[in-house]
Amino acid sequence: MVHLRRKVLFSGSFLNQLQKSLRWSSSLKIRDKKVVQPERSFKYADLLVRLAAPHQLQPKPNVSVLSFGKYFTDHMLKVFYYDTLGGWQAPEITPFENLVLHPGAKVLHYAIELFEGLKAYRGIDGKIRIFRPELNMERMNNSAAGSGLPTFNGNELIQCISRLVSIDQEWVPHSTAASLYIRPTLIGIDPTLGVAPADSALLYVILSPVGSYFENNTEAGVSLLADPQYTRAWPGGCGDRKVGSNYGPTIKMVKKATEKGYQQVLWLYGEHNEVTEVGAMNIFMVYINDDGERELVTPPLNGLILPGVIRNSILALSREWNQYKVSERKIHMEEICQLLSENRLLEMFGSGTACVVTPISNIGFMNRDLHIPTLQQSKPIYKKLLKHLTDIQYGYIPNHPWTVTID
Ligand SMILES: Cc1ncc(COP(=O)(O)O)c(C=O)c1O
Repeated sequence: MVHLRRKVLFSGSFLNQLQKSLRWSSSLKIRDKKVVQPERSFKYADLLVRLAAPHQLQPKPNVSVLSFGKYFTDHMLKVFYYDTLGGWQAPEITPFENLVLHPGAKVLHYAIELFEGLKAYRGIDGKIRIFRPELNMERMNNSAAGSGLPTFNGNELIQCISRLVSIDQEWVPHSTAASLYIRPTLIGIDPTLGVAPADSALLYVILSPVGSYFENNTEAGVSLLADPQYTRAWPGGCGDRKVGSNYGPTIKMVKKATEKGYQQVLWLYGEHNEVTEVGAMNIFMVYINDDGERELVTPPLNGLILPGVIRNSILALSREWNQYKVSERKIHMEEICQLLSENRLLEMFGSGTACVVTPISNIGFMNRDLHIPTLQQSKPIYKKLLKHLTDIQYGYIPNHPWTVTID
């Protein structure tokens, strides 16, 4: 059973209560927030559970070989949606198994789908926690509304996911260097070739024990290729939604970066080379501003950027600490070059669920290799944020309102 750290267990309105009682901003500032019609959702109370037989259970891999998304646990969650049957059906936990899809299913042709990424952590006290899942639910519903897929009540899905994690709890690594990645996915499955909203859909959740997202050690910082020829997102597009069609087309560029010796792509937009995101992370810069103060800056949520859960958490923590200035504003490559030439750029780092906070060490831009002195700072902000966030996730800071504990 899920145990939330206040007396709101499984109450339909627990997210509202949770949000009201938090000192923190819990919203991702998503454009269309009135997308959910809770009365049309599936319900945790209807959940059916079919456990795997002993011969279906997989051996658990050693933490040292995990890397990212290679192994999957013994069970999965499925919730079908059929317009003709009145909408969402009862959620079901089943043994992990392949899906059977009609070859005409919309997801296979027009990428009518979306996904999310969150994690379960085994804390130093042995308790399993998930981190701010209500923000993933909010983002998931926003992605669904934008792709003609059905929305649902995020609280109901959090409860189903919690039960799934509880069933597969032995898969949550016994290590503070690893975690259990939770991948909710929603796909349009109606077997008709029209480009139209999906009448049938499947929401499923799979779990994967993960170690480090990057193959190489990121303590040395990541190197980025910033090539103005390529763009990930544009105004009025879908860069602020976690839909597969934002990712597949970037493979070519990622390959190019790797061939040139860089680990990730720094995505630019527009003629003034606006910095938007880094790989699948949000981006932050720390610099000495014109008033001589340290300032943390990240690009605004203007539709080009995914509203990251870690981004939101970094901004909330930084504002709470009040030790440096915090701004959400555009950053351009020209400004980065200028600040570097004046020795005023201190740190750059990426943020995301997969790797929390990752320092950036250099950027290849217009045939120049810009050295970013993130790792040369004596007390970098990125390290303080990384420590604080992982301390919350792994229970070093117990009873934090950003965590949901799973029994
Ligand atoms: C494009 C992109 N930006 C940013 C992020 C970071 O988001 P979050 O902090 O919610 O993991 C992700 C990962 O989900 C992403 O795919």
